[in-house]
Order: sequence, then C-alpha cells, then structure tokens
Amino acid sequence: MSVAGGKMDYVRRVVDDELDELLPGLPALAVEGPKGVGKTETALRRAATVYRLDDGAQRAVVEADPSRLVTGDRPVLIDEWQRFPESWDVVRRAVDGDSSPGQYLLTGSTSPDVPPTHSGAGRIVTLRMRPLTLAERGVGAPGVSLQYLLAGGLRPVSGHTDVTLEDYTREIVASGFPGLRHLSGRPLRAQLDGYLQRIVNCDFDDMGHRVRNPSTLRRWMAAYAAATSTTASYETIRDAATGGQGDKPAKTTTQPYRDVLERLWIIDSVPAWLATRNRITELAAPPKHHLADPALAAQLLGAGVDALLNARRVGPAVPRDGTLLGQLFESLVTLCVRVYAQAAEATVKHLRTKGGRREIDLIVERDDHRVMALEVKLARTIDDADVRHLRWLRERLGDNLLDAVVVTTGPEAYRRGDGIAVVPAALLGP
Ligand SMILES: Nc1ncnc2c1ncn2[C@@H]1O[C@H](COP(=O)(O)OP(=O)(O)OP(=O)(O)O)[C@@H](O)[C@H]1O
Ligand SMILES: [Mg+2]
Repeated sequence: MSVAGGKMDYVRRVVDDELDELLPGLPALAVEGPKGVGKTETALRRAATVYRLDDGAQRAVVEADPSRLVTGDRPVLIDEWQRFPESWDVVRRAVDGDSSPGQYLLTGSTSPDVPPTHSGAGRIVTLRMRPLTLAERGVGAPGVSLQYLLAGGLRPVSGHTDVTLEDYTREIVASGFPGLRHLSGRPLRAQLDGYLQRIVNCDFDDMGHRVRNPSTLRRWMAAYAAATSTTASYETIRDAATGGQGDKPAKTTTQPYRDVLERLWIIDSVPAWLATRNRITELAAPPKHHLADPALAAQLLGAGVDALLNARRVGPAVPRDGTLLGQLFESLVTLCVRVYAQAAEATVKHLRTKGGRREIDLIVERDDHRVMALEVKLARTIDDADVRHLRWLRERLGDNLLDAVVVTTGPEAYRRGDGIAVVPAALLGP
C-alpha cells in the first residue's frame, strides 16, 4: 500500500465490484455506512456531477431549488443525502419518470428518523459499506472465496499464510478506516479517540438527542465494547457501565444511546438466526454485539496490542467465555464475513440455543435459506472439540448446510477428514 503525504492510493473495495455489477442495471443506488469508511471516496470515482450536502453553501442552493439535484452529467452523486432528506424523494420521483440505469448515487452516514419509501418503480437500492476487511487491507492473500464455499459441494480448500496472532492483533487495533491506515501508536489512538468524541459531542446533537451526561454515554459505550461478540443482555451492559459502583444509568437513558448509535451505524449487531424451516427448536433471539470496527472497541477499553496479547484486564467486566482478544478477533472476522457475504448476496446471522448450550458464531444465509456455518477460533490449530457444534448442526440440517468452516489464526487452509474446512482468517476473501 503506497502512502504519499499521508494519503493512501485508492484501495479497491469489495463494494466496488457490487457497484460495477449494479450501476449498469439500476437507475439509483445508495451507499450507507458509518463515518469514515470510504463512502464518498468510492462514490466519487464514478460520479460525473457531485452535490455535497454536508457543505452548507451547496445545501442552501439545493434547498432553494431541489430539482437541481437531478440535473448534471450522469452519474450524479448526492453526498450525505440525509442532510437534506427531501433529496431521497426528489431522486425517487426522477427515476419514476426516467428509469434508465446508472443515473444516481447517494451516500449517507446516518439512517434517517423516518425511513425513506422504498416502494414503487423508483426504488433506490441500498448497499451497506463497512470498514476495510483483511483482504482489502492486503493482509495475506485471500485464496479461499466465501462465495465459492457458499456454492456448496464441499469444494477443495488449500493455502498457506505467514500472518500470525500478533499481526491479527495489530489489525484489530489499527482499524479498517481507510483514512487512518497510515497511522500507528499515539497518533492513531488520538484519531480513534477523536472519532468517539465526535459521536458523543456532536453526532448525538445532530440526531436531535442532547446528551445530558457525556461521561455516562462514554461509559455505556465502553461496557458495550466489553460485551463485543457476546449476547450479554442490555441489563448486564448497564450494570457493567458502572462497574458495580453507584447507580447504574436508567433504561430510559441508555435506550436512546442504542437507538442513536444504531442509526449512526456504530452499533452493528449480528441478528440471531431463527430459520423457520429448520428442525431446531429452542433457538434464542438476542443479537450478538458488535461495534462497526473492533478498533473502536479496543479504544473504548484502552486495550493496546500488548494488553490484548497478555490478556491484561481492561475496561468494564462483562461475563464472557474467552479472552477479550478472542472476542475482538471474532469481531474482526465478523466484519470481513459480512462484507464478503453481502457481495455474494447472502446475509450473516449467529446461532445460539436457549441457555447457550449450542452456539455457532456465524451463519451465512443465502436467498434460498440454505446456510453455511462458521466458527471463529483464536487458536493456531483446532481439534475435535472445536468442531462439535458444527457437526451437530450438520446432523440437523443435512443438505441445507452448504459448508462448515472454522476460521483460525493458523497457517494452513485445508479440509478435515470429516469434511469441515479450516481457513486462516487472512486466507478468507470475497
Ligand atoms: N478506497 C480507499 N483507498 C484509499 N483511501 C481511502 C479509500 N476510501 C477512503 N479513503 C480515505 O479515507 C478517508 C475517509 O473516506 P471518506 O471521506 O470517503 O469516508 P466517508 O465514508 O465518506 O466518511 P464521512 O461519512 O465522514 O463522509 C479519506 O481521507 C479518504 O481519502
Ligand atoms: Mg463522506
């Protein structure tokens, strides 16, 4: 990755392939995701006309005459459309009249209070954008394609990587925000902290929610970060926010935290898989907690590379099975799998039976409801105990389980004798 004057050459994104596939067929696409993931940069590369609605002067012009938004050479980019929510309807009406493909790109970093209409011929198709995956960061050489595994048939799996646990830990802390990739150490921490401060001090205000006590919000976010990759209840997270000292924040205080952080795409939880056609009863419904980028969790907890590798205790205590590093590694892999799954037109869930007797970290579901199951292990090598839940699921689902994979920090990708694939995280790609 070459860096000139602190600015990185454009790194091709997984979502670029999706845009290449969709834009020639659709009149309007919206790219949504948290601040700083690269929405504007990626959209700009295709736009012939740009309206930046986060620029007050440009917004004033458009507010005076909204029809301007649909003029100019195609594709027209409407950047930060939610700053002038009417722009959604302006585009929708325009494509109702002329639905020729490749006309409009919209980007937005918050989801609106009232979701825009998605109905009618003028439907604007939305793509989610997330921070850089390991493949996009150029960590390892992703030789095992998620899309290929999702086709089923237990395809061959092979490959070798030299990426180590230390490397993954550095990636967790480094973040997948493209604008921060050239930073490390204190400058990186300062930028991540600034990112969090802006959420607390500005973004909540912009969303119409005044934060009475910023330190309560910050503590709640740290407690949420400590619960990364768990299904801890919101009650448990509220308890952890005070560390047992003093009164915990009221539910009426923390509920809006969740709502606003979700609308900012900072909370990016994985929903539970509750397939109706499977024969597994007793599936539990709570989502698995994740922040948009595991580096935000590490920053909120004050956990650097050494603290994570040495399993030093940091941040609020939340009940968990393994180490914080294990949870953040699962969060990093989850981020990657979600990006690769979206490109393959699949969605990502998790499985947990009531009481937590059986758990599978990630369930990737195709449109036809057939699934692929992934377990994430911090280990270099895995044994039979690591695959017991996957084998249990295979017995239950039969042909509806397309593949079963353990994602590791080890060096080799291979298929075990029992058919379960073992894939180092750095070798997994779209
Ligand atoms: N694919 C990329 N390759 C290299 N640098 C990138 C890439 N995408 C974004 N960047 C850099 O990362 C920073 C943030 O990107 P960008 O402004 O596009 O994010 P955004 O999602 O639009 O954020 P915001 O919501 O704050 O507008 C910028 O400095 C940009 O130059
Ligand atoms: Mg932008």
